[in-house]
This record gives sequence, C-alpha cells and structure tokens, in this order.
Amino acid sequence: MIPKTIIEPFRIHSVEPLRMTTEAERRDAIAAAGYNLFSLRSDDVLIDLLTDSGTGAMSSEQWAGIQRGDEAYAGSPSWFRFEAAVQTLFPLPHVIPTHQGRAAEKILMSAIGGPGRIVPNNTHFDTTRANVEATGAEAVDFVIPEGLDPALEHPFKGNMDLGRLGAFLQERSADVPAVFVTITNNSGGGQPVSLENLRGVRALCDAHGVPLFLDACRFAENAWFIREREAGQGDRDVVDIVHDMAALADGMTMSAKKDGLANIGGWLAVRDDDLAARCRNLLILTEGFPTYGGLAGRDLDAIAQGLREVVEHDYLRYRIRSTGYLGDGLHEAGIPVVRPIGGHAVYLDARALLPHIPPLQYPGQALAVALYEAGGIRSCEIGTVMFGRRPDGSEHPAALDLVRLAVPRRTYTQSHVDYVIEICADVASRARDLRGYRIVQEPPVLRHFTSRFEPLTD
Ligand code: F0G
Repeated sequence: MIPKTIIEPFRIHSVEPLRMTTEAERRDAIAAAGYNLFSLRSDDVLIDLLTDSGTGAMSSEQWAGIQRGDEAYAGSPSWFRFEAAVQTLFPLPHVIPTHQGRAAEKILMSAIGGPGRIVPNNTHFDTTRANVEATGAEAVDFVIPEGLDPALEHPFKGNMDLGRLGAFLQERSADVPAVFVTITNNSGGGQPVSLENLRGVRALCDAHGVPLFLDACRFAENAWFIREREAGQGDRDVVDIVHDMAALADGMTMSAKKDGLANIGGWLAVRDDDLAARCRNLLILTEGFPTYGGLAGRDLDAIAQGLREVVEHDYLRYRIRSTGYLGDGLHEAGIPVVRPIGGHAVYLDARALLPHIPPLQYPGQALAVALYEAGGIRSCEIGTVMFGRRPDGSEHPAALDLVRLAVPRRTYTQSHVDYVIEICADVASRARDLRGYRIVQEPPVLRHFTSRFEPLTD
C-alpha cells in the first residue's frame, strides 16, 4: 500500500518556543506598530507567515556545514564548495556570491540598466523592480492574462505572454539589456513557469539577440511543478529539470534565503566574461572579495548543503503538499484564494473577500491586521499598499489586493497550519465587520515596509 499521508521527511532536533499572546495584547501591539505588520516585534507573533525568505529551519548537515565553514578572506574551501554546489545545478561559468538576492539584482542592474533601458519580466518582484528603476531604467511585466485572474485554474500561471514579449522585442530590443523570468512567479501567486514557456522565451531572446536571465529564488519548487504538471516530465529527476532550465539562461539572480534553504545569502551567475568582470568590480565596492561576497565562509557551506537538500524529491513532495494543504483547507472553508495553490505561499484574495472595502482603503491591509489580531498570524499585504503608489506620488488600485501567507521551509507542523485555517475561517465569517485603513505616514518608495496606518470608522 502507498500511504496517502505525506509526512514531514524529518524529525525535530531543536525547538524554538512560541510566546502565547492574548487578543487584547495583540490589539495593543498592532496599534503601537501603526497597523503595519512589518513594525511588530516578532516575539509578539505566534505564526509568522510574513515571508518564506531566510525563515526556514536548517538541517543538521547544514549546521555541520556552519562548523566546517572556513573564514579565509580569499580562496576559502567553503567558497569552492559553494561554487561547486551552484554549478552542479546551474552550470554558469561565473558565480558571484552576494549577501542576498537584491544585492545580486543591484549589481547586475548597475551594470546593465540605466536611463532608456527597459527590462521585461513575467512579473518583477518588488526589489527587482526597485533595482531596475533605481538605475533610471523601466520595468515591464508580461505574465499571461490567466496569471492575473486569481480564481482561474491553470497549471503554469507564471508563464510569460510570448505574444506580448515578441511584439515588444520587435520594437524595443535595442533598449532591452536582458529579459527576466521569475521562477516561481512570486508577485503573481508563487505560480510556476513551464519548460515549454521558458523555451519559447529563449527562442524570442535568440531571435532578437537579447540575453535571458532567471530570477531563480524558487527554482526547485518551480522544477517540482514542472515534474508534476508538464507533459512528459513526470518521471524525471528534478535535478535534470533544473539543468534544462539552467541551460536556457545566460545568467541568474538568486536569493539563497528561499530555495538555498539558508538564512542568508544569494548569488549572481553569468555566462558572459566581460559582464562578470564588471559585476565583480561592483561586488568589491559593496559586498566583498569575489570568493565570499557579502557572506561568511560558514554561510557559503550552509548554502552548499541546502542546495543538495532542496532538490530531494521527498523534500519537494512534502514542501509543495504542505503549502497545498493550507491552501486547500482555506478554499474548502470558502475563503477566496489564488488558484491553483503556489509553491511557497497561499494568497488570499482580499478584494473578493472584502468587496465593501475599496482598493484605496486597502482591503489587504484590513485582512492582514484582522488575522494578526484574531490569531497572532503575521501575513503580508501584496496589493494597493505595496504597488499602489506611482513615482509621481499619485495613487491607484493595484491589479489585485492579495494577502500572502508565506510558508517558511521545514518550520511549522500540520497543527500550526490547522490553527491558521481555523483563524482565517473565523475572520472570514466576520468579513462584513472589517473596515478599511488610511495611510497617515509614508516614505516615497517601498512604502509597505514603513508606512503607518489608521483604521477608518465608517
Ligand atoms: N526575487 C524574488 C522573486 C523574491 O521573492 C525575492 C525576495 C527577491 C528576488 C529578493 O531576494 O530578499 O534575498 O534580497 N522575496 C522575499 C519575499 C523578500 O518575502 O518574497 P532577497
């Protein structure tokens, strides 16, 4: 018999206590934080689903790697283990370590961006967009239309719209320093991109002489979805699927805080020698010497081991199923969620759940605050707060108002997830009573991190 229950492929070796709080304490804490979940003290949070980035549990072998770490300034054995682990999966000749993904983005965009340049992506993640725009370049998103319809079922909602990308390159390829594909498509619901679609993007890039880069933060989850959903891929080893994705790319940016299974780290990898030399020179200015980047030797070892573990089928089966378990539980409770369930997170459709709160009164923020007050769950608004402000200061509704419940890797158990489902169902049953918010203080960019809010009272 093949058991139906997919168990965690690990047992717990060291535990972190959770501090239980009351609803009254949480109401005080979130008011003091200006109703911004980023401003909470994390020990006032019971289940922290703010992000899956850097929040996972490391394995005993990764902790052993931390001990093994060699802190030589240049040419450390930890560096060579890290480089080999990256190149085993992504055989790109130049690997440039950084302290996290956005540092890789900043370096790459400083080298290839600039005024008049324009970078297409399926959907830019917020730091990626900010790093493109910080150089004076423009960021455009060409995800398929299905990717913007939260309730629609489609196996690869992260796919690039090849028609729009092709038409765009036809006109603007001279201004395009690279086409990016984000796997999985975080801002679009953690949805995967198919191998077939990646090949289509590659063909367009070849036709127009433009390099293709992967924003590969969740490459292993993407590869698992390809194995599960794409015709002819079901019997393949995930490592072979990763090789196929890598072979299509001229370069990649990576946050090892996601599918590196580490708490910090990232890298930039490129094929082109000249681009690599320019990026390494920038690396030295802000990150460090090219054999450690912004990292300690021990971090490089933790990532090297994480990259071996993240492509294990037992791990990925558990990982994708446990996110699916949360999403299916919410769906069955009648809560609108982005379908199908993504790899690292479940996205609640706050606009559908709270139709009485207009986008400019931030339904996602209202839902996120309510989940915290009701159950100490920290989530993240991905909607009009995050994307609604234009560079000229004007405001408009974002395409969607979502609340992301991101699942840290190997960290929470099924009973934690059952608790989250129960709290979400309780809040959803009181949806009509929730009210919107207004922003009382905001910075000019990336306002979701530091804005302060006030609840509206009818
Ligand atoms: N690209 C994508 C698709 C991401 O999801 C992130 C980070 C980055 C780049 C930047 O990497 O954080 O290491 O600098 N996403 C996190 C999140 C923060 O919560 O989704 P970083």
